[in-house]
Amino acid sequence: MNEEFKVTPWDVTGKVDYSKLIQEFGTEPIDDKLLERWRRITGSVPVAMQRKIFFSHRDLNWLLDKYEQGEKFVLYTGRGPSGHTHLGHLLPWIFTKYLQDTFDAPLYFQMTDDEKFLNKDELAMKDALGYTYDNTLDVIALGFDPKKTRIFSDVEYSKTLYRISLEVAKRVTFSTARAVFGFDNSTNIGMIFITSMQSSPAFLPSVEARKNVPVLIPQAIDQDPHFRITRDVAPKMGYYKPAAIHCTFLPSLGGSDKMSASKPESAVYTTDDPKTARKKILSAFTGGRVSIEEQKKMGGVPGVCAVFQYYYYLFEEDREKLNQREQKCVRGEVMCGECKQELADRVVRFLEKHQENREKAKDKVQDFIVSDYSALYDRLKKPEDKKEAAKYKKAMKEYYSTRDGDRIAIGKTKELEDK
Ligand code: TRP
Repeated sequence: MNEEFKVTPWDVTGKVDYSKLIQEFGTEPIDDKLLERWRRITGSVPVAMQRKIFFSHRDLNWLLDKYEQGEKFVLYTGRGPSGHTHLGHLLPWIFTKYLQDTFDAPLYFQMTDDEKFLNKDELAMKDALGYTYDNTLDVIALGFDPKKTRIFSDVEYSKTLYRISLEVAKRVTFSTARAVFGFDNSTNIGMIFITSMQSSPAFLPSVEARKNVPVLIPQAIDQDPHFRITRDVAPKMGYYKPAAIHCTFLPSLGGSDKMSASKPESAVYTTDDPKTARKKILSAFTGGRVSIEEQKKMGGVPGVCAVFQYYYYLFEEDREKLNQREQKCVRGEVMCGECKQELADRVVRFLEKHQENREKAKDKVQDFIVSDYSALYDRLKKPEDKKEAAKYKKAMKEYYSTRDGDRIAIGKTKELEDK
């Protein structure tokens, strides 16, 4: 039976049919021809593209044309900070890191804390800002280059973003936003504007360079509706349309389609202690049979198995080894317990390393985060202002270490400005 599914930036339900989504959204599939071109230009095709985890795009050929003509592009991606980061969130970020390394591209990373504040009834402003900080640690922990990466909270970078957002907002009607996002009369008025805030960073590189700069937006496919709007308004504003590359969702450990923040056991969070993570993997949904005898006789079903999906998405890079794992399962030569244990070991190893990097990231935050405060400072900065620079660095450091748990103490920005 063909189940119903729904994919919007705020809601993903049902079993997603990704080829149908390509048609519905009007994107292009990443085909062999494009993969061949990718290989010609970069020397290899990353596993995530080979496996069609990144499966869809907009204007990628145009972007590569520009690149081959010597026009460098900028990367733009983001996160809606409404909770801790889980492994599914890391998927596009790990790929973005690969893109940064491969194309030597600057990255703009947007934290839409404004969006999450507006969209989640129970989320207080200080919590949204707190998760911006918390999630920023995960981004930094992946090893992005501080010289080429800026991370910003919408709330704290709004002065820089707002001007461009207004230009976007003026060109998008309510009826378009309603049709694209499914707003109704109970939607709060902030949400109507939010898509123009998400468009803004796609144009910021061009505004700053005072000329058109190509932009590539790696993203999970649920974000595409935003960028349909961005791309519609781009020529009206005199900018290039941003290109996009889309990934599928890491399946839930519970066996349904996407990890869900409302079911913490369905996902491994980067903040989970190894014991908790192991427990989650060991109780994951598998394609196993009711008894060991039956499984030996009939074999398992990797196609529906959350554990196999984890190997496929993140924890088995080697194609040969992945195939062997699948074949052994189908032939009934390996039982679920063993497969889960092995995955749990790999997940725990990854987590331990990531958490170590996440701790170190706490001292690097000021090298990545920009705010209107730092932007203003940059604008005023003169070569003789060494002392000012030192003062600013110290203030930033204090700002990001003065926390109530992992939460940013609200009101700090004002204090800083008064200093
Ligand atoms: N709105 C996105 C989310 O909820 C975050 C985001 C902002 C984003 N800008 C982006 C995601 C650009 C991908 C690309 O997750």
